[in-house]
Amino acid sequence: MKNTTKIGYAVLGLGIGMAHAEAAAASQHAELVAVCDLDEARLEKAKALYHSVTCYTDAEALFDDPRVDIVSICLPSAMHADFAVRAMEKGKHVLVEKPVDITCERAMRIEEARQRTGMRCGVVLQNRFNLNMYAIKEAVESGRIGRPVLGTFAVKWYREQRYYDRGGWRGTWEMDGGGSLINQASHTVDLMRWLMGDVASVSSSMAIANHHIQTEDTTVSTVRFQNGALGTFVSTTCAYPGISTEICIYGTEGSIEADADRLKTWKMKEPVGDLDEDEEEETMLARYGGGNRVAANEEGKLYGHRHVVEDMILAVRDGRDPEVMPLDGMKSLAVIEAIYRSAKEGKPVEL
Ligand SMILES: NC(=O)c1ccc[n+]([C@@H]2O[C@H](COP(=O)([O-])OP(=O)(O)OC[C@H]3O[C@@H](n4cnc5c(N)ncnc54)[C@H](O)[C@@H]3O)[C@@H](O)[C@H]2O)c1
Repeated sequence: MKNTTKIGYAVLGLGIGMAHAEAAAASQHAELVAVCDLDEARLEKAKALYHSVTCYTDAEALFDDPRVDIVSICLPSAMHADFAVRAMEKGKHVLVEKPVDITCERAMRIEEARQRTGMRCGVVLQNRFNLNMYAIKEAVESGRIGRPVLGTFAVKWYREQRYYDRGGWRGTWEMDGGGSLINQASHTVDLMRWLMGDVASVSSSMAIANHHIQTEDTTVSTVRFQNGALGTFVSTTCAYPGISTEICIYGTEGSIEADADRLKTWKMKEPVGDLDEDEEEETMLARYGGGNRVAANEEGKLYGHRHVVEDMILAVRDGRDPEVMPLDGMKSLAVIEAIYRSAKEGKPVEL
């Protein structure tokens, strides 16, 4: 029986959904009550880990389960809106995996359902909560780096052909909505927009460089931001064996470079406190240079899916909105759509 003081959590789709299940099971404030997938082997794996969980193969049955308060929607990207809307209409709060869906038009259906039903709806953009990001965001927002003049972002990852063959939906326009950009790089598109500000225009090219897929495995873009700064954005799944996620911001008063959750460079013209420029960088790299795991030891904060799922649970418990909502996710989806349009039409696209 569900402990009534705890939030009932369910997960729909058990690929990355297993990270949601793990996070819900680890939460003090929730109970993982149900999972749903069409794949029996995946359900058995979940059942072996979480003995008391109810397994469904039909999402409607999951949505009808009265013990369920929150459903994580972890289905292929083009299924997010359909299932998120149905879940909210059945009175469930939802946490939607990134991208919100594959177009802003479809993502808007989620926002409309959220407003109409009054249910809470969060979006998984967990990289905003990498522990180095708190410091980077603060340095940008407080004006510490001065006026941002250049941002260079590059997702240089690697995926074998069998990765695309396995899922069936990956690398298809219909279900994935694209390739390296919308799938692997969507977190970094979100960080670019979140850190540098709104995008004014993009000029992009794309290629199917080294896979047998329908969409792209490589994109390059030049970006003009509304605040006048310039940028570049690169995404690929062809960089053997998977190299880096470069997040580099250069302002009039300082420079910051990171590789995903690892801080690489921290140069401020005007250091704070007693530290000189090099000492400040040393301190920052000691804290954030080793990535989330090292920083978490010191700061005791959650990160990754643990952070996002816990935030969703506490949002429902406390009757507040989650930290990242559908309209936030849609802002980066609009940039992704503009990049694809520019690459397809061969001309710059304004947002
Ligand atoms: N936040 C992240 O870092 C992150 C990481 C990986 C994937 N994702 C996103 O999560 C989503 C899922 O990706 P994945 O890699 O887990 O894919 P996946 O193909 O491994 O898993 C999807 C699961 O959904 C199940 N499914 C499909 N249709 C269903 C239905 N009608 N009812 C029940 N189950 C159904 C499939 O059987 C499969 O097990 C994608 O949108 C992807 O972009 C996010």
